[in-house]
Amino acid sequence: MENRPTSLPEYRITESTMTPSIEVKQLIKKYSFYKKEPGLIGSIKSLFRREKLYVEAVKGINFSIQPGEFVGFVGPNGAGKTTTLKMLSGILYPTGGDVQVLGYKPFERKAEFQKRFALVMGQKNQLWWDLPAMESFLLNKAIYEIPDELFNKNLKELSELLDIKDILDVQVRKLSLGQRMKCELVAALLHSPKVLFLDEPTIGLDVVSQNAIREFLKTYNKEQGATIILTSHYMQDIRRLCDRVIIIDHGALLYDGTYDALHTQYSESKILEFTLVHKVDVKEIEAFGKILDIKDRTYSIRIPREKTAEITGKILETFSVDDIVIHERDIEEIIEEIFTDRRVKRV
Ligand SMILES: Nc1ncnc2c1ncn2[C@@H]1O[C@H](COP(=O)(O)OP(=O)(O)OP(=O)(O)O)[C@@H](O)[C@H]1O
Ligand SMILES: [Mg+2]
Repeated sequence: MENRPTSLPEYRITESTMTPSIEVKQLIKKYSFYKKEPGLIGSIKSLFRREKLYVEAVKGINFSIQPGEFVGFVGPNGAGKTTTLKMLSGILYPTGGDVQVLGYKPFERKAEFQKRFALVMGQKNQLWWDLPAMESFLLNKAIYEIPDELFNKNLKELSELLDIKDILDVQVRKLSLGQRMKCELVAALLHSPKVLFLDEPTIGLDVVSQNAIREFLKTYNKEQGATIILTSHYMQDIRRLCDRVIIIDHGALLYDGTYDALHTQYSESKILEFTLVHKVDVKEIEAFGKILDIKDRTYSIRIPREKTAEITGKILETFSVDDIVIHERDIEEIIEEIFTDRRVKRV
């Protein structure tokens, strides 16, 4: 048995006070499993002597999320995102630390708590495969004790917003991935949860379906005031939906702040793009920064952030310039750099 906390202090709170919807303190998850050598001999050996192995998937993370926030939870494969969301949903016991969602301890799995959050996993099917989605919706209606009126209202609104009215009676196995994901979202939201954990809800979808789901989530967050944590490997999801980003790697937080501030905090360079009246020798351009691209008379160079004004001024002095633009670097590039740069300080 894992380190289950022995005393469980009761500190349920009301939502009306501006208490955080989600509070995570020094949260730890260690998985233990037995090493097994391959093949039949390995299986037989493991009956007599089993070597226990541990993985520390989440290493004492802290964050606090206010009601109505839409937070992007980003990190490379194996960073600990799904593990954290499972602890927030009460599927996994934390090995250490504290977690509260809407004032509840998720792992207590209280019925009132279950009715107020939803977990949607893009990689897992929660709908009945051989039945039409409508049957799963009705099952959820019974499980969550959703009154008829609320069920009908939510079903109508959600299926209209996601444009799936025509497929509710089709066997789930016959739906496309995008249609199924939309049905998964409806199933998860019929009970009007105030907190939503979305684990890669757009994975594998085409651009049109990704956009539809993004728009829908944006509306749901705004209109319902729902608190949402979203994990995604598509930076477009994060860019379009989340004001705040939490970056995790190897079970530890690397960044917690606004999406926009990522540039100032982590990007040491900017891109300067300028078009000259006449073509010049490449060497003359190289003197100002690393050349990234040349298209006819337009040059892109990388320059140190703190020298932006100085270098821009010098270029204007040196050449006859038609046009000059300063760009921030792509957020994808910065995040990739954060993942690979072990010197980055942890928050
Ligand atoms: N049931 C388990 N038993 C043992 N180790 C596990 C288990 N589930 C996850 N892990 C390990 O815990 C670490 C974190 O996994 P997790 O699934 O939380 O990562 P993730 O950030 O969601 O990654 P991805 O982007 O690939 O979904 C990984 O090293 C993984 O191998
Ligand atoms: Mg995951």
